Formats: sequence, C-alpha cells, structure tokens
Amino acid sequence: MDTKRNVKIIVAAVIILLAVTFVCGVVTKKDVLYHLMNRGSLGPLTREDISYIDADAPSATSKDGIINAKDWSSLYPDIVVSMGENSKNTYVTSYLEEDPYLVNIYEGYGFAKDYGSARGHEYTLEDVAKTERPHPLANCLTCKTPNFTKLVNDQGVGVYKMDFNEVLAKMEENVSCYTCHGNEAGNKGEIVITHSYVSKAMGDAMQEVDPSVLSCGQCHIEYYFTPEDKETMMPYHDVESMHPDAILAYYNEMDFADWVQESTGTKMLKAQHPEMETFLLGKHAADLTCADCHMPIIQKDDGTVYFSHELVSPLENETLLSTCAVCHKDTDVVKMVRNIQDRITAREKTVGNKLSDFKDELTAAVEESGKSEEELDEIRQLYREAQWYFDFCYVENAEGAHNSALADYCLDTAEARIEAGMKLMED
Ligand code: HEC
Ligand code: HEC
Ligand code: HEC
Ligand code: HEC
Repeated sequence: MDTKRNVKIIVAAVIILLAVTFVCGVVTKKDVLYHLMNRGSLGPLTREDISYIDADAPSATSKDGIINAKDWSSLYPDIVVSMGENSKNTYVTSYLEEDPYLVNIYEGYGFAKDYGSARGHEYTLEDVAKTERPHPLANCLTCKTPNFTKLVNDQGVGVYKMDFNEVLAKMEENVSCYTCHGNEAGNKGEIVITHSYVSKAMGDAMQEVDPSVLSCGQCHIEYYFTPEDKETMMPYHDVESMHPDAILAYYNEMDFADWVQESTGTKMLKAQHPEMETFLLGKHAADLTCADCHMPIIQKDDGTVYFSHELVSPLENETLLSTCAVCHKDTDVVKMVRNIQDRITAREKTVGNKLSDFKDELTAAVEESGKSEEELDEIRQLYREAQWYFDFCYVENAEGAHNSALADYCLDTAEARIEAGMKLMED
C-alpha cells in the first residue's frame, strides 16, 4: 500500500517538476540544455571567472620606455599570443572597385586613389606605410602604434607636424599593450587611456563611457586634424554631441573642410570610422562593451580564464554567440545581423549613386555659370551635408549592425539633402 502511494507521490512530483520546467522554459525561452551541452555551465564565462593577477610590471626593452608585448609575454603568455592572432584577419577589399561611384564623390581627395577595407591590428604600420594616399605628416601614425602615442605624451603636440617617414622609422610596434593599458597592463589589466586628445576633447564626460569602450574609442571614432597644430582631435565633448547632426554643426561652426573639391567648389568633409559613436548611441550601450562582442573570454584546458585579445566578429565565434544568446535567446542573431547589413549596404549603393549624380549636376551648374555664387553656395552646402551623412554611414565598419536606426537616419538625411539640392538646381 505504502509503496504504491509513494510511487504515486514521486510520479506526481516528477510531473509537476517537468511541467514547471516546461512552463519556465516557454516563458523565459532559455535553452538550458543548449548551454549545458555547449559550455558545461549555464551561460558564457564572464569577467568574474577571470583570475586577475596583481603583478609588478616587467622592465621595458623598447627604446622609448614602452613595455612591449614581448616584455609582457612571461606574465601574460596567452594574451600576447592571442593579440598576435590579429594577423589572421587578412581580408581586404577595394571599396573603389566595389562602389565605383566613390571615385567621383571623393574626387580631389586621397581616398579617390586608394581606399581598401581595414584588416587586423597586426598590419597597422605596414598598411599606413604602403597606402597610396599622400601622408606628409606624422599625425597619420596616431592610430597605428603606441610608440607614436608615447612620443606625443613625452614631447607634446609639436610631434603631429613632424615628417611622416622620419617618425615612421622610429616606430617599433603595431597597436599594442601600451595603447590600451599604458605601462600598467600587469596591474590587473586595468585600462589606461593613453591618447591625450580623448581627455582634451571630453574632459569629465569621459566618465560617461566605460574605460573598456573608450580604449577602442581612442581610434574607432570620427576625428579631424586641428587646422593649426595638425593635432588629432575628436569633434565633440560628450556622448550626446557624438550624434552626426551635432558633429556636422561643430564642423560648420568652425568652417572646417577636409578638402575643397575643385570641380564643385565645395568644402568637403570626410568621415572616418565612427564605431564608438554609433555603438554609444545604439541599443547595446547600457549593457555591453566592445570587448563583450569582440573579445571572447576563453578557458584553457588547464583552467586558466582570460580575455582573448584577438578582435573577432561575434558572428564567427561560438563563445561570443553564446553571449548574444543571454538576451536574444532563440533569435538567430547571425541572420538578424546579415539582414540588417544587406539592407543597409543596398541602400548605401542607391544613395551613393544619387550623390554622385548630384555632384555631376552641380559641376555642370558651376561650369555653365547660369547661377549666382550665392545660389551655388546654397547648393554646395547641401552637397557637403549630403556627403557627410552618406559617409558617416558608409565608413562605419559594422554596416548597420551597431546601430541600424542611425544608419537609416544618415541615409534618409543624405537623400533629403540631395533632393533639396536637385530641386534648387532646377529652379
Ligand atoms: C586595443 C586595446 C587593447 C590592447 C592593445 C591590449 N588590451 Fe588588454 N584589455 C583590453 C580590454 C578592452 C580588456 C577587457 C577589459 C574589460 O572590459 O574588462 C583587456 C583586458 C586585459 C587584461 C585583464 C583580463 C585578463 O584576461 O587577465 C589583461 C591582463 C590585459 N588586458 C593585458 C594586456 C596585454 C599584456 C596586452 C599586450 C600584449 C594587452 N592587454 C593589449 C584592451 C586592450
Ligand atoms: C591605436 C588605435 C586603435 C585602437 C585603440 C583600436 N583599434 Fe581596432 N583598428 C585600428 C586600425 C588602424 C585598424 C585597421 C588596421 C589595418 O587595416 O591595417 C583596426 C582594425 C580593427 C578591426 C578589423 C577591422 C576589419 O574590417 O577587419 C577590428 C575588429 C578592430 N580594429 C576592433 C577594435 C576593438 C574592439 C578595439 C578595442 C578593444 C580596437 N579595435 C582598438 C586601430 C585601433
Ligand atoms: C552587441 C555586440 C557588439 C558590440 C557591443 C560592438 N560590436 Fe562591433 N560589431 C558587431 C557585429 C555584429 C559586427 C558585424 C560583424 C560582421 O560583419 O561579421 C561588428 C563589426 C565591427 C567592426 C568591423 C569588423 C569587421 O570584421 O568587419 C569593427 C571595427 C567593430 N565592430 C568595432 C567595435 C567597437 C570599437 C565597439 C565598441 C565601441 C563595438 N564594435 C561594439 C557587434 C558588436
Ligand atoms: C544584455 C543584453 C544583450 C546582449 C548580451 C546582446 N544584445 Fe543585441 N540587443 C539587445 C537589445 C535590448 C536590443 C534592442 C531590441 C529592440 O529594440 O527590439 C538588441 C538589438 C540588437 C540588434 C539590432 C540593433 C539595431 O540597431 O538594429 C542587433 C543586430 C543585435 N542586438 C546583435 C547582437 C549580437 C550579435 C550580440 C552578441 C554578440 C548581442 N546583440 C548581444 C540586448 C542584447
């Protein structure tokens, strides 16, 4: 009797347990089994799993006093090796061949001659040395090597105007430990912002941004060279003013031009690679950092847990995809991202071609001289601004993945400027 009752109770308990698990599973859509099978735990590794070392820094062997990757290798062998793996990112494509209208839009500027996509951090010095874009000054080395950063920190902003080749000859490393950790990487891998223009531009507002994000934001940003000193500078003061509307207002206010285009007589702007801006104005800014999506936390067979410093696409990395799954649960994020990118890329082609047509019409209007300079200037301003918004979207390397709403906004605004300009031309 008793055994039968016990069996009934156990069966009932099991059924209730299964039902509860099922209901919870449906409600939270958490694929418990998937996590257990793939990672042996519930969810991906986090910073809490890392055993941070609080060690003294090794002594520097670089001529300028930088502790280089080799110096760190006995303390952080895995991190040094993983950073070296950025050499695996070799894929490059010529934007000018992919999108021939760019040659017309960028006419008169270096990017019309040579414009390839970026590759891994291990190639920064090699690539800047061999680009066919002219670079007379050392300021082009700002985002390529910590040795230049150290030179600026030691000798001041005069360094930006030095001769490119003379300074290049002294550079020892590509982007490396000092860039993001100063000489303090051993001190628990704390982030140190070494590029001095970040604090000059942002001041106290630096605290609005996680240091980990800001470490990438030393380079993956929109910047310009100051007219006097040719110093690298960010065109904003806080996160709010990182919006392309605000940056344009900043450039208009100072009457800044990257180049003056001869055929149209327009003061043109060239956007760089505003990944930090688009990310900070996007939907992940409150919860994630660049590292969460581009630097997988890895566990070695001996149990050591560390941040891989190979900067990879999250879509091609199982560990990172498991991070996405924490929030996106059953969504196929790869498909979601590719859909956004395909849509944005297609729109870029349409808007880019329209912009190129607009430029041709403006060139013709300038040559025909049927319009007054004042009338032409109004159209030129629209062309300058259309190019700015188009470019801000085009040159952002995630192709809409970081912030699709902002990408659409930029393309919409570019289109509206083009239409307004075309209309003025007909009048
Ligand atoms: C481009 C920037 C960048 C470079 C270059 C870089 N790091 Fe890091 N490092 C980071 C970021 C970002 C993190 C993660 C911080 C966070 O969000 O918690 C990190 C984390 C760390 C940590 C703490 C986590 C861990 O796994 O122990 C150490 C130690 C570290 N880095 C050492 C180094 C060393 C040594 C080098 C050179 C071989 C280096 N880093 C190069 C950006 C960089
Ligand atoms: C000192 C400047 C600098 C810093 C800091 C920096 N990067 Fe870069 N990054 C570059 C440059 C320059 C390139 C292009 C290199 C080339 O093509 O030669 C690049 C390339 C990349 C690429 C490859 C792009 C592609 O299209 O294949 C990724 C991904 C990347 N960086 C991510 C990051 C992340 C994430 C951080 C922060 C942890 C970071 N970077 C910090 C300068 C920097
Ligand atoms: C929510 C995740 C997420 C965050 C956070 C994030 N990214 Fe990305 N990033 C992506 C995705 C997805 C792509 C597209 C990858 C692809 O096309 O394979 C991408 C692409 C890139 C690329 C182009 C790389 C390439 O191979 O084409 C760069 C550079 C980059 N991100 C830098 C950054 C920087 C710098 C930050 C922080 C300011 C950042 N990302 C924050 C998800 C993220
Ligand atoms: C902390 C939670 C969280 C994590 C982790 C996360 N996301 Fe998201 N993601 C969100 C939220 C919230 C949204 C906004 C959803 C909405 O508005 O519909 C979003 C939106 C997106 C979008 C659309 C963005 C846009 O501007 O259209 C993409 C693409 C995306 N996530 C990719 C990723 C990828 C890839 C990863 C992993 C590398 C990831 N996410 C990790 C919370 C997260």
